[in-house]
Amino acid sequence: MKFAQKALLAALSSAALVAGSEAPSDVLDLTESSFNSVVDPEPLMLVEFFAPWCGHCQALKPHYEEAATTLKDEGIKLAKVDCTVEEKVCSDQQVGGYPTLKVFRNGSPSDYAGTRKADGIISYMQKQALPAVSHVTSANLSDFKQKDKVVAVAFLSDGDSAERKVYTELADANRDDYMFGLVTDAEAAKAAGVTAPAVVLYRKFDEPEVKYDGEFNGEDIKAFLAAERVPLIDEVGPENFMTYFESGLPLAYYFTEPEAENLDTVLAGLKPLAKEHKGKMNFVWIDAVKFVNHAKGLNLRGESWPSFAIQDIQGSTKYPVDDLGKDPVQSIHDFTTQYLAGKLKPSIKSEPVPKEQDGPVHVLVADEFDLIFDEKKDVLVEFYAPWCGHCKKLAPTYDTLGEKYAAHKDKVMVAKMDATANDVPPSAGFQVQSFPTIKFKPAGSKAFVDFEGDRSLESFIDFISLNGKSGVKVSAEANDSGAAPVAEKAPSHEEL
Ligand SMILES: *[C@@H]1O[C@H](CO)[C@@H](O)[C@H](O)[C@H]1NC(C)=O
Ligand SMILES: *[C@@H]1O[C@H](CO)[C@@H](O)[C@H](O)[C@H]1NC(C)=O
Repeated sequence: MKFAQKALLAALSSAALVAGSEAPSDVLDLTESSFNSVVDPEPLMLVEFFAPWCGHCQALKPHYEEAATTLKDEGIKLAKVDCTVEEKVCSDQQVGGYPTLKVFRNGSPSDYAGTRKADGIISYMQKQALPAVSHVTSANLSDFKQKDKVVAVAFLSDGDSAERKVYTELADANRDDYMFGLVTDAEAAKAAGVTAPAVVLYRKFDEPEVKYDGEFNGEDIKAFLAAERVPLIDEVGPENFMTYFESGLPLAYYFTEPEAENLDTVLAGLKPLAKEHKGKMNFVWIDAVKFVNHAKGLNLRGESWPSFAIQDIQGSTKYPVDDLGKDPVQSIHDFTTQYLAGKLKPSIKSEPVPKEQDGPVHVLVADEFDLIFDEKKDVLVEFYAPWCGHCKKLAPTYDTLGEKYAAHKDKVMVAKMDATANDVPPSAGFQVQSFPTIKFKPAGSKAFVDFEGDRSLESFIDFISLNGKSGVKVSAEANDSGAAPVAEKAPSHEEL
């Protein structure tokens, strides 16, 4: 399906090129000589670092164009840099994968954290354009409260300069996540039913006003906002998934057909559970039919509904329940209690263990993952995805590398794992976020280091000989493919 879409997209864009009918673009093209002179004077702009061959970049293109056209009218410029041509700009900006998007304020960059869809880019940049704290008066407080799903408002009096500093810093650091208002007018505070200094979160769900009642410090206020910014149980989709993901809290999903007759009853039954664990765990429901791949990604079979899963976002582990029995609410309650008590083992997806290892490279699967901790061996392991272009390009070199060490299998292991069909277990101590990820562990050690060289045969052999402890030396003939050290970023969030 995905391949079909990509192929279609590629066909469409090349057809447009052949016909010479590309619409004029509002996206600026930056080069090494123009980069600083364009970017530095802009109070706010967005820059995409891309490579023409990168599939995710091609998918972003129409969205980026549309956003550029809309945002141009608001004085916000969008630009792009082709990293295959402007290598210096991209290495100065520490671009490690494609596409990379950065927000620049007078030349100073920060990571773009919105989606790769036109409306997401537009609203993200519009929020960036506002001052982090908006001044609010009694005349416009009621308008301001309606501006977003959640809006934070501080009520301070003129004497509260320490609180003002705390609040401004909090707002600057979290401007992507909330709208922050500040009221200094005593009448408005009175009308809102609070006494300065105070913080109130206004919401469009559950209880519409939640007052903060702790000490006035940034960390506690931030934790309060994070716990209260999401409904007890909301439907999750691409537009709000990031909120949950960034909270870092475990996420509990109720997978259901949206038309299920008992949906409202089950959600009502889950609310007390969600309330009990607020701030420790988030609860959502999700359209199981539309997001069946997400269910499979959480190691659910995806064959019947409803089902349930907990995703430990920080630990990158998952706890699926395919069959909830006759009483889903009770099953979820029991499972969640066990999970929070630390009594459950995470589910680890694995391909079957290969009957034979007949290729030049050892085919590693999750069920045999501990093989790579073998202290007698230098171990090199590549984590790849079948769709990843760089991985395909690397494959012949990597096979040759495996052949080189074939006579030394007792001392050097060259392995690969399909990280889309196998989970990297928590015992690994690392997570795989881009493809290919290549890790190396010398004999006598259990710690892995990243291989970040160019992916030529020579570089691999030099690297193993320099960092390895097995003492095996093989010679590399100059079969250098000259691949650049870049990785493709998976769109891990927005596809949900
Ligand atoms: C509210 O009104 C004040 C006074 O007119 C104005 O300065 C402020 O920018 C307004 N705030 C918002 C969020 O519109
Ligand atoms: C290098 O490449 C040549 C031609 O592609 C091939 O014949 C040769 O076996 C390769 N050498 C090594 C060491 O793999």
